[in-house]
Amino acid sequence: MSAAPELRVARDPDEAAREAAELIVWLGREAMAQRGGFRIALAGGGTPGILYRTLAGRAYASQLDWARTAVFFGDERCVAPDHPDSNFRMVREALLAPLGIDPSRVYRMSGEEADLDAAARAYERQIREHVASDRGPWPVLDVVLLGLGEDGHTASLFPDSPALDERTRLVVSTVAPREPRRRLTLTIPVLNAARAVLFLVMGAGKAAAVRAVLEDREGADRRVPARLIRPGAGRVIWFLDRPAASELTQVRQSVDDREE
Ligand code: 6PG
Repeated sequence: MSAAPELRVARDPDEAAREAAELIVWLGREAMAQRGGFRIALAGGGTPGILYRTLAGRAYASQLDWARTAVFFGDERCVAPDHPDSNFRMVREALLAPLGIDPSRVYRMSGEEADLDAAARAYERQIREHVASDRGPWPVLDVVLLGLGEDGHTASLFPDSPALDERTRLVVSTVAPREPRRRLTLTIPVLNAARAVLFLVMGAGKAAAVRAVLEDREGADRRVPARLIRPGAGRVIWFLDRPAASELTQVRQSVDDREE
């Protein structure tokens, strides 16, 4: 039985990014102390850039031992790694290059490959080689960072995708409803094996999707794939700015309380 999601509603994106950075540093230090290393899978898209720049910024740059951190990706667009749509390129520019992170500590999905099934299987081997399965059959990432699409997708797990039913593979290729359409993504079981899943969601445009995931219950979960992220023994923490949380009932009261 997974624990209830934890909600952190910040006044603005900068505050949300700082709060997420604080937790990532704390979880990273705990992983290093208890397991000798930290294994994190990063999100793509436009939102997390502010978090990566925060982690690379003066306040946090020296707080995490990146030499003992293995960086993975939750998903990738199937473009060249220097393509403007590449999640790897975005992470390299916002986090990896500014911190001078050793490329040997960064495990990139090879989205540029023509044979995406082979690329998915190769990434699966890398995960199994570098991430211990110390709580069951699935490799246990310490932190998985995720975003949320307006249609309720997360990583590259889109509504009604066959990938939502995958219970064997760690990584599969999927097709997005918009360009770049071909994607690689971690699957539900490996996301749900994580010790902590952090959603970072900003903006009023995501408020309906946030409500659909956290409060609504109508419709099948496969129509709102982020509902399927329920780590069996892990935490789920949502970092939201106020506009993204604006359609939640419970949180609005707590925000109102704070404002009184
Ligand atoms: C991607 C992401 C995807 C993203 C959502 C939200 O490759 O695009 O993995 O799941 O998190 O689409 O994207 P924005 O942050 O750009 O709104």
